[in-house]
Amino acid sequence: MQQSASHSWAIEKYVLLVRKLQGTSPKTLHIIHFGYWLPYSTLTFGISTRNLQPKIPFDMASTTSSVLGLQLPTDPRWVHLAEKRLEDILTDHAYCEQKAASTCISLIQQYPEKQKLVDDLAPIVTEEWGHFRLVLQEMRKRGLEPGRQRKDEYVVALMKCERKEGDHEGRLLERLLIAALIEARSCERFKLLSENLEEEDLRKFYRHFMESEAGHYRLFIDIAKTYFDDNQVQERWQEFLEEEAQIMKNISIRGDRMH
Ligand SMILES: [Fe+2]
Ligand SMILES: [Fe+2]
Repeated sequence: MQQSASHSWAIEKYVLLVRKLQGTSPKTLHIIHFGYWLPYSTLTFGISTRNLQPKIPFDMASTTSSVLGLQLPTDPRWVHLAEKRLEDILTDHAYCEQKAASTCISLIQQYPEKQKLVDDLAPIVTEEWGHFRLVLQEMRKRGLEPGRQRKDEYVVALMKCERKEGDHEGRLLERLLIAALIEARSCERFKLLSENLEEEDLRKFYRHFMESEAGHYRLFIDIAKTYFDDNQVQERWQEFLEEEAQIMKNISIRGDRMH
């Protein structure tokens, strides 16, 4: 079987499984995902999950804050702080990738009836988990060990901006846009690392992540526009961008945090 054909087959099976299990408790779904799907997909496909990434045209040369919509560029001093704390920044990065995979799993569990959302996010789960493994591999190669997960102040602050008063449907827009924002900010940070780190291998390493996260940012916005009116998405996105800029302003720059 061709590799791409086996990827599509596996994704199709996974999507069918998720639909079949609609109504199953989140805990059971979690066990199925981490106990069955991830070991199976990673053993079958290895950590190279690029073929599972949706093909979204993106001009890398224009991956700037203005294209991503972010209103406050990261302080350029952050790269130099991060460079000095490689073990910490890679540890934080590894957990960010894990959380990105969990967010997609959670969205699929919460909205299994939304075909585009499920079909688009199922391969991203595998891709984000592949990113986590890549970061781990990079750490081991350098003789570094991942530490414990730390509180992610940036994400906690963003979650506080989520409007909780809406119904299940309305909450979807909030969750998709928060996910898009995290992807956009991660992309901007990876871009800084890929352009300004001293070591060439690390610059290349981060360029790969920058490309992926740019695609994810676009994907979350695209999913939002499938289920909500364009104007509604645009309006809420602008509000989130302003709130995010405020959060960035108030968070001190730290070399041991991705955000
Ligand atoms: Fe990622
Ligand atoms: Fe991502």
